[in-house]
Amino acid sequence: MTLNLIKLAAKVVAKSSRVHPADRVLRTELRSAQGLARHDAGEVSRAVFAHFRWKNWLDDHASLEHRISQALDLAVRFKEKPKSFSDTELLAKAVPEWVAQELEVPPAWLRFLQAEPKIWLRARPGKADQLAQKLFHVKLHAIADALLYEGRADLFREPEFQAGEFELQDIASQVVGLLCNPQPGQTWWDACAGEGGKTLHLAALMRNKGLIWASDRSEWRLKRLRQRAARAQCFNYRAALWDGGVKLPTKAKFDGILVDAPCSGLGTWQRNPHARWTTIPSDVCELAGIQRELLAHAATGVKRGGKMIYAVCTLTPAETDEVASAFESAFPEFEPFPMTSPFTPAAAPQSRHWFWPQATGGNGMFVAIWQRKA
Ligand SMILES: C[S@@+](CC[C@H](N)C(=O)[O-])C[C@H]1O[C@@H](n2cnc3c(N)ncnc32)[C@H](O)[C@@H]1O
Repeated sequence: MTLNLIKLAAKVVAKSSRVHPADRVLRTELRSAQGLARHDAGEVSRAVFAHFRWKNWLDDHASLEHRISQALDLAVRFKEKPKSFSDTELLAKAVPEWVAQELEVPPAWLRFLQAEPKIWLRARPGKADQLAQKLFHVKLHAIADALLYEGRADLFREPEFQAGEFELQDIASQVVGLLCNPQPGQTWWDACAGEGGKTLHLAALMRNKGLIWASDRSEWRLKRLRQRAARAQCFNYRAALWDGGVKLPTKAKFDGILVDAPCSGLGTWQRNPHARWTTIPSDVCELAGIQRELLAHAATGVKRGGKMIYAVCTLTPAETDEVASAFESAFPEFEPFPMTSPFTPAAAPQSRHWFWPQATGGNGMFVAIWQRKA
C-alpha cells in the first residue's frame, strides 16, 4: 500500500469518534479525495478497518501511519497463522472488557471478529441462478436468493445492481425478511426502516403486491430509502416519519410489523470494528429500554391474527431475550409463533432465534416472532 493511501487512512482514523463514526468519516473523505481510483479507495477502507480491528495490538508510541501498517501486517498474520493468536489474547484485546459482563463470549466469535467480513448479495426472488451466470466470483448459498461474493469489483457500478437485479445485504439480515414471510397483497409496517434494507426485501417477497409502510425517525435515512427503492423498482411502499411514540404513522392495522430496532450492534462488530470502541455499557441498558417502548407502541397496530417481529443486530441478553420476555408479559394477546430457521432447516421451529456470526458467516442477529391471537 502506498504511503499516500496510508496517510489518507490515518486522516480518517484521526477524525473518527463516537459522534463521527469511522464508516461515515471514511465515506466523506473518500468522496472529497480527488481522482482516487476505486481500487485505492478499497485499500484505504481496508486499512481503516484493520486499524480498529487490531487497535489493542498496536504500539501506542508509534505514529498513526506506522500503527496502520502494523494492523495490516497483523491481519495477514491472522489469515495465515490464526493459531498464533491465543483465545486468551483475543478475549483481552479484540473486544472491550465490559463485553464479558454482558454476555458469555465464545472464542469462535472473537476469531470471527478478527477476520475480514464476507460480502452477501440478495437476488430477486427465484433469480439467484440467473444472476450467478451474469456476475463473476459469486457462489450460490443454500438460503433462497442469497449469494456470496468473493470478487473485488465495485458492485455498486455493476449494471445488474443499477437495474435492481440484486442488493448488497448481509445473510442474517436476509433471514429476518424470510422469517417475516410477508405474502403478496398483505399490508406490512417496517417500523424502523432506516435506509430500507429490509423494506426492499419485504417488497420483493410480496412481489410488489400489497403495501409496506416504511417509517423511521430520521428523514435522511428515509431519503436514502426512497432512492434505493427507485433503483430496485420497488413501488408498493409508503415512507413516513415515526419518532417511536404512541402516535403511529397511520391508523391502518397490519398483517405484520417488523421492529428492526436500534441496538448496541455487537452483531456488526466484524463489519464495523470502530463500534467496538465507541459503544459503552450504558448503551445496552438504554437501548433495551427504547426497544421495549418501540415494541409496546407498534403492537397496537397489529391486526388480530397478524404477526409482530422483533429483530436486533446484537446478542446481549439484556436486549434480545429480556426484551422479548418483557413484551410477552406485557402483551398476553400475543403468542410466540415458532418458525424454522432457514439456517437450520432440519431443526425444530422456534419463536426466538439467535444467529451467531461464527455459525452463519453474517452479522449477529436475534429475532423473536409473535402472532396476535385471533
Ligand atoms: C437497526 S436500524 C434499522 C435498519 C434497517 N431496518 C435496515 O434493514 O436497513 C434501526 C433504525 O431505527 C431508527 N430509530 C432509532 N430510534 C428510533 C425511534 N425512537 N423511533 C423510530 N426509529 C428509531 C434509526 O434511525 C435506525 O434507522
